[in-house]
Amino acid sequence: MRVLGIVGSRRKKGNTAYLVQRTLEAIKSKDIDTELIFLSDYTIRGCIGCEGCKDTYKCVIMDDMQKIYPLLLNCDAIVLGSPTYFYNITADMKAFIERLYCYQIFDEEDRSVWSSVHEVLGGKYAVVISICEQNTEEDMGFAAEAMSKPLTGLGYRVIEAVKILKLFKKEDVLGSQDALEQVERAGEKLKKTLRLRNETEKKLKLLE
Ligand SMILES: Cc1cc2nc3c(=O)[nH]c(=O)nc-3n(C[C@H](O)[C@H](O)[C@H](O)COP(=O)(O)O)c2cc1C
Repeated sequence: MRVLGIVGSRRKKGNTAYLVQRTLEAIKSKDIDTELIFLSDYTIRGCIGCEGCKDTYKCVIMDDMQKIYPLLLNCDAIVLGSPTYFYNITADMKAFIERLYCYQIFDEEDRSVWSSVHEVLGGKYAVVISICEQNTEEDMGFAAEAMSKPLTGLGYRVIEAVKILKLFKKEDVLGSQDALEQVERAGEKLKKTLRLRNETEKKLKLLE
């Protein structure tokens, strides 16, 4: 099994990077590989709404997102992390999520009827982590939902949406045992969920 961690902060040694990494460390095991990518290493435009992906489920924009699509298709789960920027996710994370539009499937006549490529292929899992400097969830605004809502629509079951408050400077995370414990718990839960699915798949095959 495979889990892909995706960091939406440009601070490569910042709070988000550290917490996504810690989550992956909690997941990594004999049966689960992990990989970490930073969106800042890629040039990703926002979706242009051309509908060029409508029949092929492939985005026609030839930028670095083309390097990430295979990683997404080849993993069982993702860990998305973004700092809060003005009550929302970062522009990098927003552009990345917009470009997942090619995996959304709509009925031609009735667009209220929809599915997704991942749903059709059996579903995937996600953990989302949002970080902010202020003291209340209200100050975090929509950051967590801006990741979990689209992912749910795209066929990911969001196992945990971890909200970490009160981290400002990039090294603040190092003094927050509570933040580390929260992401480790989320990672453990994702690991157990993946194993449960794997074991159940095997059992079902034996029962065929
Ligand atoms: C442009 C910008 C906007 C921000 N907006 C918010 C905000 O709306 N609420 C908040 O609590 N923190 C806000 N912050 C603080 C960051 O979310 C915080 O410093 C976070 O720990 C950064 O994570 P990183 O180290 O992974 O980059 C903002 C920071 C920047 C640079």
